[in-house]
Amino acid sequence: MAEPTDCFLRELELSDGSVVAIRQLSSGDVGCVVWDAAIVLSKFLESQEFKLPGGQRLSGKCVLELGAGTGIVGIVAATQGANVIVTDLEDLQELMKINIESNSHLITGSCQAKVLKWGEEVKDLVPKPDYILLADCIYYEESLEPLLKTLKDLTGIDTCILCCYEQRTMGKNPQIERRFFELLKEDFKYEKVPLEKHDKEYRSEDIHILEIYRKT
Ligand SMILES: C[S@@+](CC[C@H](N)C(=O)[O-])C[C@H]1O[C@@H](n2cnc3c(N)ncnc32)[C@H](O)[C@@H]1O
Repeated sequence: MAEPTDCFLRELELSDGSVVAIRQLSSGDVGCVVWDAAIVLSKFLESQEFKLPGGQRLSGKCVLELGAGTGIVGIVAATQGANVIVTDLEDLQELMKINIESNSHLITGSCQAKVLKWGEEVKDLVPKPDYILLADCIYYEESLEPLLKTLKDLTGIDTCILCCYEQRTMGKNPQIERRFFELLKEDFKYEKVPLEKHDKEYRSEDIHILEIYRKT
């Protein structure tokens, strides 16, 4: 696959010393670059603190990432042995595919890219993944209801949604965040992962990770 001419690298060292190298684009929409929440969630996924019930890790688990942008979080999950589908709008497909291909030597599970626009039908995706990953996807009001619909369509009773977001205080951001939680509470319960459990180096007071489950 041909590499775009305007790309620049974001490297992330994993705990085993291997380096995930992500192509970002200098022009394009917000999904063309790696956001801090994606780094925080990626490092959390490979940390010792992150364990499934029963102490299992991600190996062999079905994982779906929404609004994946460059695909970094899903790719890191796939380096931990998960079978991952990274999803975003049509415009991001090529970038996600380039990043999957260029990091394929680190992937011990599997990783593929697919189109998924929030709110639309979720036809050929894993219906009830073990994990759904979201990084920096709470940022504009019109997307909140479609995003919550997609989460409802995709989650089973055991699906764990890991949602990492940056708390922003400017402009409409506090209002958007409040509305997200109002909608979330209708069908989901959630807990914040304490900051001490985030990666020691890649953590920040204003970046939160939520563990979200469907209400029974
Ligand atoms: C701020 S970026 C975060 C990208 C990536 N998760 C990260 O943290 O680096 C938000 C992402 O959500 C995607 N997105 C926004 N609205 C969407 C929608 N309606 N359906 C699907 N994806 C959407 C964008 O294309 C973009 O990739």
